[in-house]
Amino acid sequence: FSVVDAKEKHKDILNVAHRGASGYAPEHTITSYKMGEKMHGDYIEVDLQMTKDGELIAMHDETLDRTTNGTGQVKDFTLEEIKQLDAGSWFNEKYPEQAKAEYEGLQVPTLEEVFETFGKNANYYIETKSPEVYPGMEQKLVDVVNEYGINKDKLLVQSFSSESLLKMNEIDHSVKLVQLLDYTSPAELTDKEVQSIKQYAMGIGPNSDMIDQEYVQKAVQNGLEIHPYTVNEKEEMQKLIDWGVTGIFTNFPDLLHEVIKGK
Ligand code: G3P
Ligand code: CA
Repeated sequence: FSVVDAKEKHKDILNVAHRGASGYAPEHTITSYKMGEKMHGDYIEVDLQMTKDGELIAMHDETLDRTTNGTGQVKDFTLEEIKQLDAGSWFNEKYPEQAKAEYEGLQVPTLEEVFETFGKNANYYIETKSPEVYPGMEQKLVDVVNEYGINKDKLLVQSFSSESLLKMNEIDHSVKLVQLLDYTSPAELTDKEVQSIKQYAMGIGPNSDMIDQEYVQKAVQNGLEIHPYTVNEKEEMQKLIDWGVTGIFTNFPDLLHEVIKGK
């Protein structure tokens, strides 16, 4: 394609700061999310888990073990207990070259704290994680979104669980949804899948390493947004953009920004 086409193509690629700028700071901390914004991330990606007392918190895993100094299942601890934990020191130990003293003792944020910090008009890309473990998670999410007056035009909700997305759709039809997909072998998108997903979602989020140009174009030609995850190398970002993806999840939003700007 021509240079003009390439520029057009690059214009609206969504830069999704995956767990914040999680290549540089402990994932799912306010610090990581702020860094994501600073590094030109368009969206703050938030994975949700739910505490024993029904509060939504930003955390990827169902257990506390990897990203805090606690152990056990999130669902077995109250928010007050989880708030005592250190959600930053693990990062300094695992990535000494990126370590910073200020990461020590960072707290696990609640979804409410994320909304308080970044406001009604930020772009949030929120994932309902393990919805089968947390009955009522979707209703709670919609309640918090409404309570904080979050601008729904800028909100995206994603899940690997189509049941969870259908529930979201039922509770609040105005929330835009993205179906996550996890392929373990080269991916193909059938007409049947496209039609079924289009009933409730505006886009798909496949893992980036099993898709090809044909896959991307099939999604785009059928009017689906396509945001592959998780892409941390500039060369891979460029390839996906050339194939026609409409957004990318990355731990390094600064690198994606450079690729989008053609640097
Ligand atoms: O949400 C896109 C991507 O984050 C899905 O994988 O495991 O990082 O939540 P995961
Ligand atoms: Ca996620």
